Amino acid sequence: MDLRLLAALGALLCVCCSIEEGSAYTFRTFMGAEIAATAISSSAVVQRPTLPFRQVIDFCKMDLRLLAALGALLCVCCSVEEGSAYTFRTFMGAGIAATAISTSALVQRPCECRALCRDGCVAVAIRRQPPRHFHCSFTDKTFANVTTGLTVPAPDSSVFYKRKCLVCLPGFMLVNNVGCIYVSTVALNFTAAAASCPFDSQLFTANFLIDFDAMREYLLKNFTTSGTFFWIGLIHAPDSTWQWLGGGTIPATHPSPYWGQIDPNEPATVTSCVGMYLNTFPQLSYLYHLADAPCATASKFLCKQI
Ligand SMILES: *[C@@H]1O[C@H](CO)[C@@H](O)[C@H](O)[C@H]1NC(C)=O
Ligand SMILES: *[C@@H]1O[C@H](CO)[C@@H](O)[C@H](O)[C@H]1NC(C)=O
Ligand SMILES: *[C@@H]1O[C@H](CO)[C@@H](O)[C@H](O)[C@H]1NC(C)=O
Repeated sequence: MDLRLLAALGALLCVCCSIEEGSAYTFRTFMGAEIAATAISSSAVVQRPTLPFRQVIDFCKMDLRLLAALGALLCVCCSVEEGSAYTFRTFMGAGIAATAISTSALVQRPCECRALCRDGCVAVAIRRQPPRHFHCSFTDKTFANVTTGLTVPAPDSSVFYKRKCLVCLPGFMLVNNVGCIYVSTVALNFTAAAASCPFDSQLFTANFLIDFDAMREYLLKNFTTSGTFFWIGLIHAPDSTWQWLGGGTIPATHPSPYWGQIDPNEPATVTSCVGMYLNTFPQLSYLYHLADAPCATASKFLCKQI
């Protein structure tokens, strides 16, 4: 949800529901409020609100009456499933044109309509059906202009048009909890690698450990040859810190969730750059942990779409 937008609208009640296999939740939102310090049991820093919930199919029931009252409010939600992510574009006061409807259903909560919009379904229209139901109309048709091609005016209804959150450029893989990743086929020195990431991408950087671990997980699944090394966007800076290209540093101290057991270990006289390294030799266990190497070394590299 765009919290700034919601905050700007004042103490708006937004109800979302998060549907996992076999369970369903609603969330009551209190804008501008926090949990009292004495009541906090744990905390985490993440990039997206849904990140800690790996399996979550998030979402999202907005109170339709309230939204309708607020007019054409755009609500963007992101649904993170295993390996896929969607946003929903909302059209208030709109339905799906009768000729475009492929199936329909009667449910008890609007979020159920959304949850039912699965494979093949590109949009769902939700209409309140008194006294206690909601009518969902699904379509599998795509239109370049959804406003004119798909939707028709329909008071007290709304259309949720499903879009990929992240559309990966050709050659990029959607890596769960990381983003769109390009794995080079050629080996280049660090400078050339950094300059060779495809248009709209740059060497992979991990702002949080959770990103780094998700990337490791992906590489472990896909590139299983011991000795594989990929440049990423981390360098030994002139001030001797280990710096992500986009900003931020990581310590070189051990034990480390980032570095392999005996890294960084290039002599101070060598300008070193950093890569993710697989070495299954038991005493080393570099499971795509970090290793530094002379920047002139030719290696494959990982780019992330921006
Ligand atoms: C879709 O059609 C509407 C109505 O003609 C127009 O206002 C809008 O700009 C179009 N959108 C795009 C993306 O072409
Ligand atoms: C990586 O693994 C995923 C799932 O395990 C698979 O869908 C994908 O094609 C693999 N990618 C590469 C480049 O091997
Ligand atoms: C890196 O590779 C490029 C292109 O092959 C080359 O021009 C450049 O001199 C190399 N730089 C280093 C530091 O080896």
